[in-house]
Amino acid sequence: MNAITSFPIYANVFPAGQTAGVNFCGVTPVEQLGKDIFVGVRDKLIQETAFFRQPEELEFIKEYIKTALKGKKEINIIDGACSKGYETYSLAMLLENIDHKINITGFDIGKEAICEAKKGIFFIKQISGSKNIVSMYKMGIDAFNDDYLAFSKKCLLEGKQAEYKQMFDKFYTELPGYKNKQSIKERLKGILFKELFPSITTRAFQIKPEKAELCKFVQGDILKLDEIVSQASADVLLFRNALYHLTTKEYTLGLKLPLPDEIVIPVVKDVVKQIDKAVASKGLFVLGSHASDHLTTAGKTLYNELEMHNFTPVLYNAAGTKAVIWKKNEF
Ligand SMILES: C[S@@+](CC[C@H](N)C(=O)[O-])C[C@H]1O[C@@H](n2cnc3c(N)ncnc32)[C@H](O)[C@@H]1O
Repeated sequence: MNAITSFPIYANVFPAGQTAGVNFCGVTPVEQLGKDIFVGVRDKLIQETAFFRQPEELEFIKEYIKTALKGKKEINIIDGACSKGYETYSLAMLLENIDHKINITGFDIGKEAICEAKKGIFFIKQISGSKNIVSMYKMGIDAFNDDYLAFSKKCLLEGKQAEYKQMFDKFYTELPGYKNKQSIKERLKGILFKELFPSITTRAFQIKPEKAELCKFVQGDILKLDEIVSQASADVLLFRNALYHLTTKEYTLGLKLPLPDEIVIPVVKDVVKQIDKAVASKGLFVLGSHASDHLTTAGKTLYNELEMHNFTPVLYNAAGTKAVIWKKNEF
């Protein structure tokens, strides 16, 4: 797999240039990124993510490229809402040895997230403690960093763990000097309430420079996707576990509720228009499995709009209730 050279990212939107040191990948030096963009309805960015998150979707992408897109020499992947790059590099790891030239670009609306992705330092949390405490702690978190890296015994894809760990070791080196940075509050909690809270160890890993080059990162907004991606050029466009940012609002105590339909429906329609413009014929749109992106007005509108724009579902979740990957049909 080669570094991206000809990928159609518009340089005028994200000025080109490199600064020595931290940001060895991507087109925009960290200092030149805009502030976190706040588009209309969203009030807070949640950048929860993980390596090999929802791996069946990533595996599907790989198989689809190898079979349905076999004739294409070059494949353009746009990882929308890429957060801190864990997902983007998971794709790079999985696709490294296939017979295509793969161009991968991650974008996210969050400046902080893109800065983190460009720095190339990634953190993995290992959790230990009694089984009940660990599972209670993980309840509601579906992006746990250790899950697919053989650090956790509780894993959906048992057989894949070792394979993923091997790929990971080819891409990353551990930062040995990294200290488990726990706040005093966290440390006290661990000592005083050992029976109630799990113990968490954080390890830091740096992407190897030659692998860092496999992914580019830019700051961007799905609602302005056409400023980032040229028309019909994305063979795979991901926007996983992110639509809820545009369709819900956080109220007190972290309670997230859907926004009124009159806000949600036009926003989702705009998102689909952008997706439709960017995705190539036979290309994939990958939505992910976040419940609020499927089971609400946002989800219903998204499904209808995708169908109206000639997309059909090609992968459902295990329960068959969510269409997690869509294909753009040929005309
Ligand atoms: C929960 S994270 C999902 C990260 C990753 N896709 C995954 O599934 O692990 C949601 C991400 O969406 C990003 N986001 C929110 N609104 C966005 C928008 N309009 N355009 C691009 N990214 C957006 C947030 O900054 C955040 O990083």
